[in-house]
Amino acid sequence: MGADRGVRVPFNYLPQQFADPAPIMAAIAEVVASGDFTLGAVVTAFEAAFAAKTGAAHAIGVNSGTDGIKLSLRAVGVGPGDEVITAANTFVATVGAIAELGAKPVFVDVDDSLCLDLDALPAAIGPATKAIVPVHLSGTMADMAALNALAARHGVPVVEDACQAFMTLQDGRMAGTWGAAGIYSMHPLKFLNIWGDGGVIVTDDDALAAQLRLLRNHGLADRDTVVLMGTNSRLDSLQAAVALKMLPQADAIVARRNAIAARYDAAFAGLPGLRIPRRHPDVRHSFVTYQLFCDRRDALAVHCGAQGIEYKIHYPVPIYRQPALAEVLPAGARFPETDRQAAETLTLPVHQYLDDDQVEHVIATIRGFALGEAEAAQ
Ligand SMILES: Cc1ncc(COP(=O)(O)O)c(C=O)c1O
Repeated sequence: MGADRGVRVPFNYLPQQFADPAPIMAAIAEVVASGDFTLGAVVTAFEAAFAAKTGAAHAIGVNSGTDGIKLSLRAVGVGPGDEVITAANTFVATVGAIAELGAKPVFVDVDDSLCLDLDALPAAIGPATKAIVPVHLSGTMADMAALNALAARHGVPVVEDACQAFMTLQDGRMAGTWGAAGIYSMHPLKFLNIWGDGGVIVTDDDALAAQLRLLRNHGLADRDTVVLMGTNSRLDSLQAAVALKMLPQADAIVARRNAIAARYDAAFAGLPGLRIPRRHPDVRHSFVTYQLFCDRRDALAVHCGAQGIEYKIHYPVPIYRQPALAEVLPAGARFPETDRQAAETLTLPVHQYLDDDQVEHVIATIRGFALGEAEAAQ
């Protein structure tokens, strides 16, 4: 089942990415020399560059993707007791942001593309629904034109959790720019990654942008005037300097990840016991992660490990099944596709530092496993 060729395929690429930290350290040194540590010129410059990259009218830097979701929901009017619809298969942060506002998460299952199931969505919308939060998991995205049309019919704003989907495009328009607001994470394992926590909200709505700028900075209209009760969720100025340095790499990163993913897709298509998540033809994926579904996922994971391939599982226990959610979940609520994905999904390295030997080793290992299993079953 694929001999060990001694090739190692690490999941973590940060040591390679930052092997030469000098250019970023120089940018940080400039901020230190200016003493401009709170918002200031570097944050403004980053926000302008980020808005230009996404095509949004406004970009607002915040201290995490989680806070970005929370503040955006608050800005579109979500408060205690309101219902917010989101995907049953997501990272805890989406749901945590809803819960922290005292709102109630209402889950909708995902489909086999990892996106919110748009056929299941209408049944979840009710009089208490105050927002819909599609999650662009792994760097793909749902049919946002259809989702927006549905939301508009019900008069419900859409806030996109695009934390994993910077650089994902649908019909040439970036994930995160379709809803009233969209939020990206700059966590070290995200596509635009900084040296700690940070996030960005984008919106085309001038009034929403103004409100979000207030919300992230204590509601301060100026040094001495508090016009609403906000919080401290400013993007750290040093991290903005890192982000500004990283932003120009985005096109090369997405191109390399797509090239690797295309080779994986071609090599894994039709193999017994394996399935590739459905790809939307009009979506340019960003492949923050590359996920594969496998009947015998745990055995494949062990096999990958033995062959020097590091992997992850996104996510082994769905958020809706976590003990913290037991109280808000309707009795007996089940999301079969989310459950299936939790049992079958395996995340393989797809990062831009993989060389051709490493990509071939992943392909040979997965193919060897699938074909060996099929032979053994005969
Ligand atoms: C789908 C999703 N939503 C929200 C977040 C939260 O982002 P952050 O870690 O920047 O708070 C993440 C980050 O992992 C995520 O993957």
